[in-house]
Amino acid sequence: MAGWDPELYLKFGGERTQPSIDLVSRIAVDRPLRAVDLGCGPGNSTQILRKRWPDATIIGVDSDPNMIAAARREYPEGRWEQQDIADWTADAPFDVVFSNAALHWLTDHETLFPRLLQSVAPGGVLAVQMPSVTASPVHRAIWKIASDARWSDRLAAARNAQTMHPPAFYYDVLRPIASRLDQWETEYLHPLEGPAAIVDWIRSTALRPFLDALSTNEERQTFVGRLLDNLADAYPRLADGRVLVPYRRQFLVASPA
Ligand SMILES: C[S@@+](CC[C@H](N)C(=O)[O-])C[C@H]1O[C@@H](n2cnc3c(N)ncnc32)[C@H](O)[C@@H]1O
Repeated sequence: MAGWDPELYLKFGGERTQPSIDLVSRIAVDRPLRAVDLGCGPGNSTQILRKRWPDATIIGVDSDPNMIAAARREYPEGRWEQQDIADWTADAPFDVVFSNAALHWLTDHETLFPRLLQSVAPGGVLAVQMPSVTASPVHRAIWKIASDARWSDRLAAARNAQTMHPPAFYYDVLRPIASRLDQWETEYLHPLEGPAAIVDWIRSTALRPFLDALSTNEERQTFVGRLLDNLADAYPRLADGRVLVPYRRQFLVASPA
């Protein structure tokens, strides 16, 4: 599979970074010594941690070489490690284990989340945001188009590339081993220029595994063409000609027992 595209991803940098700002604002740890940003991408979320806690040692971890290279370029003073979160273990406990928009790219959340909470020092937190978009029109359209017999076999892995459980799942997994667990969802409303902008928004994230799995540019263009047709109906135009794109995200902040 081709790598992530930091430039395309940061085309909507403001919209993508806002959840990190909101999540950090709910962390009641005043002076962490050590924090880690799992799935740090191009370093935008890590920078939010650094602004809040300038004196802490903060490590950004990401498996994608393009993303880590972009983070190193933009924030050369940072500590960046290229590693898969599935293999990541804390060398010593962290006061803040943070992850914005990354853990849904991993499987086995029933073991992953307890393992991450066990990496948190007493008094610290595990703080996570993930999209919660199973009902979103653009995601439903992608899944519908992917189910076409023309390519459904080849897109099976792409359909399973993201793991999305409801908040109750994380409650059941974490509550027995947490002294405190806060959970909430926020639906962000993004005014975008129209269907082409929605495809641009989603192309660097949820749509990426589908396009990567198709064989030719002609197939990719057909897939995107069908998606554009679907989006024209799913997102009605606003008075100024734009469309409003709801994007639901779930958050949790857990402290170890
Ligand atoms: C949507 S970006 C989020 C970037 C940034 N945290 C932000 O808030 O905008 C998801 C990031 O997770 C990384 N990622 C996905 N699966 C991963 C894994 N198994 N291990 C490490 N990083 C992973 C990707 O490489 C990508 O940079």
